[in-house]
Amino acid sequence: MRLDRFLSETSPLTRSLAKRALKNGEVTLNGEPVKQASTHIDTEQDEVVLNGETLSLVGLRYLMMHKPTDVECTARRGLYPRVIDLIDLPKVERLQPVGRLDVDTTGLLLLTDDGQWSHRVTSPKHRCAKVYIAELAEPWEGSAAEHAIEQVAQGILLDDEDTPTKPATLRFITPQRAELTLTEGRYHQVKRMFAALGNHVNELHRQSIGDISLPDDLAPGEWRELSAEEIASF
Ligand code: URA
Repeated sequence: MRLDRFLSETSPLTRSLAKRALKNGEVTLNGEPVKQASTHIDTEQDEVVLNGETLSLVGLRYLMMHKPTDVECTARRGLYPRVIDLIDLPKVERLQPVGRLDVDTTGLLLLTDDGQWSHRVTSPKHRCAKVYIAELAEPWEGSAAEHAIEQVAQGILLDDEDTPTKPATLRFITPQRAELTLTEGRYHQVKRMFAALGNHVNELHRQSIGDISLPDDLAPGEWRELSAEEIASF
């Protein structure tokens, strides 16, 4: 990681204040003064000291949570508890949900303070598959189910949007329970897609993101750290 980014992630300094601190000789790398903001460091091995304080990347954390209902993915305190209120870790407000779930949606939520990793997971360019299970108000089978499957595969024009949704996969588990796999994440996308098709989502649950699935033994409200393999899978 670049030294100026490391400083901005591990201290209160912004990137430009970090550059200034480097120029002013306030930083040492493995005991030697260092001034170049572009110096690359090994975040596991190298020792960076700012004004006598050794810095470490407590910052880069990667978690999964089984989000329950009635909990919000926002940073601000509001009507409902926030997902970060369920996590008992220091500096928890640094953790950001990786793609939000609605307050009434349950299931897999990733959280991190690594902005670049978060971007890799959420950017439509990376076409990361997200699998949702929707409980529908209207049962659909036969030609109604087939029609919906075709429309979802072609892409649907949502209200107030200019471009149709990206081709996605719809599968009916039962006439009222459907699995929808998306590679993008527009605002309320699943609910709006079913609304555009003439149905209504009564309950929504996210089952997986990329290669990471919600484990059966993670109860609603529980969280755990991601494994190195899970982090590297994006
Ligand atoms: N689509 C929705 O409509 N809601 C969610 O919470 C996630 C995807």
